[in-house]
Amino acid sequence: MTTELSKEKPAGTAAAARPVLEVSGLDVGYGLRRRHRRALQGVSLTVAPGETLGLIGETGSGKSTLARAVLGLVRASAGSIVIGGEDVSAYGHRQWRNLRRRGVVQYVFQDPLLSLDPDVTIEDSLTEPLLVQGVPRTKASERARSFLSRVRLDEDLLDRLPGELSGGQRQRVAVARALVTEPELVILDEPVSALDSANRVQILEILKELRAVGVALVFISHDLGSVAGIADRIAVLYRGELAEAGTAREVITHPGHPYTRLLVSSAPTLKGASTKRAERDQLRAALHA
Ligand SMILES: Nc1ncnc2c1ncn2[C@@H]1O[C@H](COP(=O)(O)OP(=O)(O)OP(=O)(O)O)[C@@H](O)[C@H]1O
Ligand SMILES: [Mg+2]
Repeated sequence: MTTELSKEKPAGTAAAARPVLEVSGLDVGYGLRRRHRRALQGVSLTVAPGETLGLIGETGSGKSTLARAVLGLVRASAGSIVIGGEDVSAYGHRQWRNLRRRGVVQYVFQDPLLSLDPDVTIEDSLTEPLLVQGVPRTKASERARSFLSRVRLDEDLLDRLPGELSGGQRQRVAVARALVTEPELVILDEPVSALDSANRVQILEILKELRAVGVALVFISHDLGSVAGIADRIAVLYRGELAEAGTAREVITHPGHPYTRLLVSSAPTLKGASTKRAERDQLRAALHA
């Protein structure tokens, strides 16, 4: 499987390579004047080439907002976003459109139905990002088929509409669509949350393969257990701010913020989950104080 892929794991240490994504001091708000609410405040993080960053946080903590800001779908009121060395913070509509067309960064939406046009066949969904780049149709179709098999789907799905697939199949098509342009960075927003355990395992396997061939991933989840097995580093958002960030091992073995400690102690598959119930209650009380 790896032989058909053109990307290699980058040489050298991650620290030495230019980050694929650098977010610094990012503020994002929704609504105007009195209805204004800050969703992100002073968030900074980087993703190195080929690195997998797990972005975790409770519901409403700003995870999808961060993803949307990086894709230019919501505007930041302060801070900067640098993608592949290019400062995109002040980009206008046209520049964003061009950047998206180049397919350097791709986004798998939290709801797979949003990643796929309901009126467009799976084949057209998969070939469209390539056709806008000027790839000839026969080549685009070939590529669509090869990516479909990479996400373990059968070619006979190509003629169907998204509504004619199961949730797990749809999510895999959304992942395949994000991959066809061979992006340097893929942001996956809760890619496994809505799936049953068999589909979840398959998607995680596919993500591990991507990671192995050097695609940088931002894996958004509220479930530390799903992220723990795949992330090199973990960043924790809490109420719109970065509560902590570090290597996956550091964050899981030495969580600093009460919210992270609560997550670690509540994740059934992680060591440390044996923390006493009284301790978890204490952490919850500290968070709500
Ligand atoms: N379009 C919008 N207009 C107004 N407020 C919004 C909008 N989108 C998100 N918000 C608010 O911004 C905050 C962060 O939302 P966001 O969707 O980024 O959270 P999240 O961490 O992705 O949550 P979840 O785990 O539920 O997906 C929340 O308070 C949310 O209500
Ligand atoms: Mg979200």
